[in-house]
Amino acid sequence: MGIFNSKKKNQFLAGNGEIQKTLHKNLEFTATEQYKLIRTNLDFTLPEDEKCPVIGITSAMRGGGKSTTAVNLSYVLAEKGSKVLLVDADLRIPSIAKKLEIESTPGLADLLRGKGAALSEFRSHLLDNWYVLPSGDIPPNPSELLGSVRMKSILEQLKEMFDYIIVDLPPVNLVSDAISISKYITGMIVVVREDHTEKKELDRCFRQLRMSNVNIIGCVINDAKTGKGSYGRYRRYRYYKYYKYYQTYQSSTQKGDKK
Ligand SMILES: Nc1ncnc2c1ncn2[C@@H]1O[C@H](COP(=O)(O)OP(=O)(O)OP(=O)(O)O)[C@@H](O)[C@H]1O
Ligand SMILES: [Mg+2]
Repeated sequence: MGIFNSKKKNQFLAGNGEIQKTLHKNLEFTATEQYKLIRTNLDFTLPEDEKCPVIGITSAMRGGGKSTTAVNLSYVLAEKGSKVLLVDADLRIPSIAKKLEIESTPGLADLLRGKGAALSEFRSHLLDNWYVLPSGDIPPNPSELLGSVRMKSILEQLKEMFDYIIVDLPPVNLVSDAISISKYITGMIVVVREDHTEKKELDRCFRQLRMSNVNIIGCVINDAKTGKGSYGRYRRYRYYKYYKYYQTYQSSTQKGDKK
């Protein structure tokens, strides 16, 4: 498969407006530190023998902060020196290209349709080792494409080229896309937005993921409300390792919850 066969010049960053304040370089110090903490925690939650972990980012419903988390996490991983690929696999309502002010094509959907593109096309100008694969043109059948053998083969090839692949996905409760691709994913992070994600929705999301045997490696609590006192603002972006958060969650929902 000729994914990276062209020698086209990098024309990655196309826009000139201001990138959102919630993203990578514009993050306040405390938020950056929280993303670095997530980066550190990944080392403890991912299998040691995995050469290039593929990390999916999903949530129960729309708007939890998946894409923001995917951008920032991939950025801090690249900042530390790893070669990282951020993939926009939300092929229904893609947002990575818009957030980063780059062209949305060529992208994942084009690769899935068998069209080639140069690796250099996906390199961000911000960091040499940070690559961003946008969605490409929106396809009519995202769930089938994401669960396809072709997707598997693309990921297998990409895994040979990167240290981490971060995959931004649609929400679990609305469409089957995240579940479809989950068989090719090393671990899934579930983003929960305080005051936004309802418990019953989160409950449904975890049930779906568990039923599909998805390896949930953690939860990111995004946009946590600031507490009172001088340390309050340090809580804006928080990350709890899966076993901590999920065991609490499990014990509160065990009753009547089929495994
Ligand atoms: N911690 C935060 N503080 C302030 N704004 C935030 C925060 N996290 C996300 N946002 C904003 O909320 C909006 C939704 O975030 P984002 O696009 O990351 O969510 P999403 O889960 O990917 O949404 P979708 O399901 O539509 O893809 C964006 O405008 C983003 O800038
Ligand atoms: Mg999104």
